[in-house]
Amino acid sequence: MKTLIPGEFPTTRMRRNRLHDWTRRIVAENDLTSNDFILPIFVGQGKRQSDPIPSMPGVNRISVDLLDNVVGEAQDAGIPAIVIFPEIDPGKKTPDAREALNPDNLVCQSIRKVAKSYPEMGIICDAALDPFNSDGHDGLLEDNHILNDETVDLLCKQSLIQAEAGCHIIAPSDMMDGRVGAIRNALDMNDFKNVGILSYAAKYASAFYGPFRDAIGSKDALKGDKKTYQINPANIDETIRQVAQDIEEGADMVMVKPGMPYLDVISRVKLEFGLPTLAYQVSGEYAMLKGAIQNGWLDNDKTIIESLLSFKRAGADAILTYMAIEASKLLKKHGGIML
Ligand code: PBG
Repeated sequence: MKTLIPGEFPTTRMRRNRLHDWTRRIVAENDLTSNDFILPIFVGQGKRQSDPIPSMPGVNRISVDLLDNVVGEAQDAGIPAIVIFPEIDPGKKTPDAREALNPDNLVCQSIRKVAKSYPEMGIICDAALDPFNSDGHDGLLEDNHILNDETVDLLCKQSLIQAEAGCHIIAPSDMMDGRVGAIRNALDMNDFKNVGILSYAAKYASAFYGPFRDAIGSKDALKGDKKTYQINPANIDETIRQVAQDIEEGADMVMVKPGMPYLDVISRVKLEFGLPTLAYQVSGEYAMLKGAIQNGWLDNDKTIIESLLSFKRAGADAILTYMAIEASKLLKKHGGIML
């Protein structure tokens, strides 16, 4: 055997800790459990409807009567919360988005249904007008301009009817200025002090929302783009200022969206503020991964777990993901992370 000359070869061999399954388990820095997942659900009109969304293989849009099945499955899988997104009947979409204020709209019906059947399940709903707006925008459009303050008034009313129906957390995803403070105030003034706010503070003007817009039927409706309210993908200092402002206005949790192309943002937000920081693995990320998996180019189980683990490593406390049920089942089957 060759004698090693001190200093000529590293005395530290990084591979020692990687040698055995048990060493790898001992030195693992991050973990993933079903507690980390929040499941977004698309709800549509009709009865006994379960329509596949072509750009999101494996995800269906369901009618309210079928919610119990999916939410029951999520609860059994150990998932703490769901998010409800509606596909509104195109005939009910108007330029003033008035269906958003109907206490019996699809979102409120869904909230009441889940709250009744699964009182332990966390219910989160967007505050934004895009599912209800015939222009496909998150705010009111006038002369090609999104009206800020008028939209915030509507968002407050929308938040109140959702809270009234039993929603636990309002998630403003509209990116209007001042909406977090205004919604906090509206909730407090109306006896909803315990209804929380999850702000989509770091929400980028991203191409990765395409399949979501298919799912809620807002893609063809969308006039122009959302660049005058969502953040430029080139920026991060601006995002930090936005997050700081939303926290100042009363956000209990903040969200970074999309997820995987913005891991640097998750990391910086978490380090800077130490607030519960959620990541949204959005529809386009889901489509991208599942598309490659369906082609046999990526391994399903390992890719799902690795993609979700990356959010934890970046510092996220929880992940909104369309893979929530599948990932929880995988973790259960393998007794934890199996990478
Ligand atoms: C609406 C909203 C969007 C998403 C969540 N809430 C789309 C958008 O801003 O255009 C996207 C989620 C996804 O792509 O999975 N304000």
